[in-house]
Amino acid sequence: MPGLINLNNCSNAHFSSFMSGWYAIFKSGELRKNKILAIERFGLKLALWRNDQGQVQIFKDRCPHRGAQLSLGCIKNNRIQCPFHGYEFSEKGECEFSPEFNIFNSARNSLLKAEIFKSHEALDMIWVYLGSDQNFQEFFYPELEEIHKNFRAYSQTEKIWDSHVTYCIENQLDYTHLQFVHKNTIGRGYKIPQEPKIIKDSRSISIYFNQDIKPRIQFFFPNVWVLNISERINLILYFSPINLNQTQLYLRTYREFLIYPGVKKLVDLVMNFTNQVILKQDQKVVASQGDRPSYEAQKDSLMLHDQAIRAFRNHWGKKLISLENYGFFK
Ligand code: FES
Ligand SMILES: [Fe+2]
Repeated sequence: MPGLINLNNCSNAHFSSFMSGWYAIFKSGELRKNKILAIERFGLKLALWRNDQGQVQIFKDRCPHRGAQLSLGCIKNNRIQCPFHGYEFSEKGECEFSPEFNIFNSARNSLLKAEIFKSHEALDMIWVYLGSDQNFQEFFYPELEEIHKNFRAYSQTEKIWDSHVTYCIENQLDYTHLQFVHKNTIGRGYKIPQEPKIIKDSRSISIYFNQDIKPRIQFFFPNVWVLNISERINLILYFSPINLNQTQLYLRTYREFLIYPGVKKLVDLVMNFTNQVILKQDQKVVASQGDRPSYEAQKDSLMLHDQAIRAFRNHWGKKLISLENYGFFK
């Protein structure tokens, strides 16, 4: 059924397979003023637009009148106008104008409310909050903001993997697959680190190798992974769930070298090409793990080096959001 989570694919009909929290879902630069962008995330059709001040608005892409897609309409007087009968909805989702009655803010109009999501813009990404008002948490990613502020340049590439977001994320917490999956690229000569230290808290999972004073890998719930290669190069990978079986990856390489105009574009191309090769190597094996969320895989035998994955599954499985909390009103 378009626009709704497919209940048949959920183990528990009252819950989605996504945890609550702030998700990076799209690139800021591609949402222009006076344009409506239609995207699918979490199995929901969403319409993204900017108000007069340039702030991002995220609506469920469905008119509350008779279900037309709002993204086929336009932005008018700081409101989104439905293409079907011209009803106009404010950024709060309220119907402020309907040509049928040709009046503003009538009692009849107030019966109509478009479903909206809380949004945020940071790190050149658009973020959406998935969850209930009761459990709402402010946007809080100081570690990512520090990387974004301190590094002088980044390149970014993207790819869609045909897997539930949980399997995609786990692949990045799995440091033992390199010598197999990436045997001819980054895994050549790789040795599994002995006794890595894994620290889990309410926001993140950190993996320290050897005597590292900084985590080498850090994952911030619900969808951001960081690889600290050195002081001169860091990776950030955003996992944006399209639906139950597809995930949009945005992989960003922050760096401190070869950043000057002229050379930057060429180096970006090389980095993005390399990252695409590596992502492709992962994609095939990850897709083969199944089409259910990973935390449901009761028959898996998690081993010594799967501690981060165990911690991830436990945390994710406990924070699932209720389907009723999709698209709550601000
Ligand atoms: S369906 Fe949107 S105004 Fe009628
Ligand atoms: Fe990999």
